[in-house]
Amino acid sequence: VDTLKSVAARKGLRVGCALADTPNSLGNAAYADVVARQCGVVVCENETKWQALQPAPGTFRFGPADAIFGWAGRMGLQRRGHTLVWQPARWLPQWVNGHDFGARPAREAERLLKTHIGTVTRHFGSDVYSWDVVNEAVDPADGALRANVFTRHLGAIEQIDLCFRLAREGAPHAQLVYNDYMRGDAGSAKHRAGVLELLAALRRKGTPVDAVGLQSHIGSWDDVRDGRDPQREWRRFLDAVTGMGYKLLITEFDVNDRALPGDIASRDAGVAALARDYLDLTLSYPQVTDFVMWGMADHVSWLRTWDEAPRKDGLTMRGTPFDDRLAAKPLLHAIRDAF
Ligand code: XIL
Repeated sequence: VDTLKSVAARKGLRVGCALADTPNSLGNAAYADVVARQCGVVVCENETKWQALQPAPGTFRFGPADAIFGWAGRMGLQRRGHTLVWQPARWLPQWVNGHDFGARPAREAERLLKTHIGTVTRHFGSDVYSWDVVNEAVDPADGALRANVFTRHLGAIEQIDLCFRLAREGAPHAQLVYNDYMRGDAGSAKHRAGVLELLAALRRKGTPVDAVGLQSHIGSWDDVRDGRDPQREWRRFLDAVTGMGYKLLITEFDVNDRALPGDIASRDAGVAALARDYLDLTLSYPQVTDFVMWGMADHVSWLRTWDEAPRKDGLTMRGTPFDDRLAAKPLLHAIRDAF
């Protein structure tokens, strides 16, 4: 049978999946085998985030990320990096949020970013072909740039610009990506407008941003949040982004099924239909180079344990292409057919 990567290759599209350094993910040989067979790219689900790589000031811990990327290298898979800076304060390490920035706070903020981004990009070197440099800089509630300790001391746009310049310096050959959701949970018109404003501002500054990562945690409530014609709104967003010359990547695809019926057959069909609608439109843009899933089987899916989005009926989520016994679901075929 055709694998996702063999079908995607005909279109020049890379297929990837997130892996974690845990017993049920990389440690589960049968699951890791599914990923290796279906995918040409691996991204670390958590192991290349700031908190994981630099858990204390100046203390770097590369073991778990190296385990995942080492495996990827042995299996002949490419590697994406996620993410050098995750903007919301709740996703920065506590030590960063509580750091004493001293008498020259802008300089100290710059030093912290330089140390982190420089050390991390140089550690992975040319192994990582593409980096999510800044993740989720725009507040979906109002489209404004989110605040954190760095934006407070440097200015928001200046800090984002700096992160990309530092990434370019440390990883001159890597593609540099701005990653955000804009769709799915809280995906709203204001969020998309804010992202477009940010991208336009970065273009004006000459910031080295090569591509926009579309997280693509999609779900059936998009229709409600986005008004009468969500597809048209989404197309307008993609037209605007590609019009500015940015490439696109689907970076964290999964389908939240919390608004679909409990019955498994209709739920799986509903998930596949949502995916098909989304992918038919999004993949119609030749600028999309990568399709990366946020887990390929339900037993590893963050949707299953993510406390903000449980199903009301208590049933477990079925938003990835394989079930928790690694049987293929309609979603797998929907993805393959959409390529
Ligand atoms: C999630 C992971 O899947 C979870 O294991 C972790 O607890 C929280 O982060 N957007 C992103 C990803 O950019 O980094 C998030 O990953 C999912 C949402």
